[in-house]
Amino acid sequence: MILLLLVSLLAGPYSEQRARAVLESMRKDARRNMSVDPADAQFFYRLTLELKARRVLEIGTSTGYSGGWFAMALKKTGGRLITIEIDPGRHAEALKNFAAMGVSDVVEARLANALTEVARIEGPFDIVLIDAWKPDYLRYYELALPKVRRGGVILAHNTRNAAFELRPFLERIRTDPAVRTEFLAESVQGLSISWKK
Ligand SMILES: C[S@@+](CC[C@H](N)C(=O)[O-])C[C@H]1O[C@@H](n2cnc3c(N)ncnc32)[C@H](O)[C@@H]1O
Repeated sequence: MILLLLVSLLAGPYSEQRARAVLESMRKDARRNMSVDPADAQFFYRLTLELKARRVLEIGTSTGYSGGWFAMALKKTGGRLITIEIDPGRHAEALKNFAAMGVSDVVEARLANALTEVARIEGPFDIVLIDAWKPDYLRYYELALPKVRRGGVILAHNTRNAAFELRPFLERIRTDPAVRTEFLAESVQGLSISWKK
């Protein structure tokens, strides 16, 4: 913890240019870390700015690539990200990456099992991203929906390349009268966008 604090102090004032350079350097390990594609991450950034989001919840931090894009936008909106990861190694790497980006002050990275942790977190959220193990998506959706404000959004990743595994979840977001769901056309891996009515 002290080391991370020293690193961020030595790095000087926050600069988005430096944060973007760190995100770029993370791309080399993207496959190993199961990170979203840059196009999807950039959509998270734009959406956070458009909604002027102040509270974002991410389920599945990995090493912080998608979280880093949210955090960069939250630096501008004055908001905060809570992100949850179950794997200690990936969580530790995410903490280092957030520190190197200079965004640790807007990120609360929790090492926890999201299946129990999400129930403990108080809403409301403007944005929730589900990007953990696929059979759990429906459970996360049910846990997250009451914590999203009206006009807020639940995003879910891999709706195209994991569509078979996600069938029960996809059926729910297409038919649930509580949301209006669309899909990000340009997403290669697939991204659902469910707007809470
Ligand atoms: C696809 S990766 C997330 C990628 C990340 N969103 C990004 O784009 O940089 C999924 C992550 O979810 C984590 N995960 C799976 N089940 C989880 C659970 N029950 N609680 C917390 N994290 C979980 C995995 O350990 C893995 O690191």
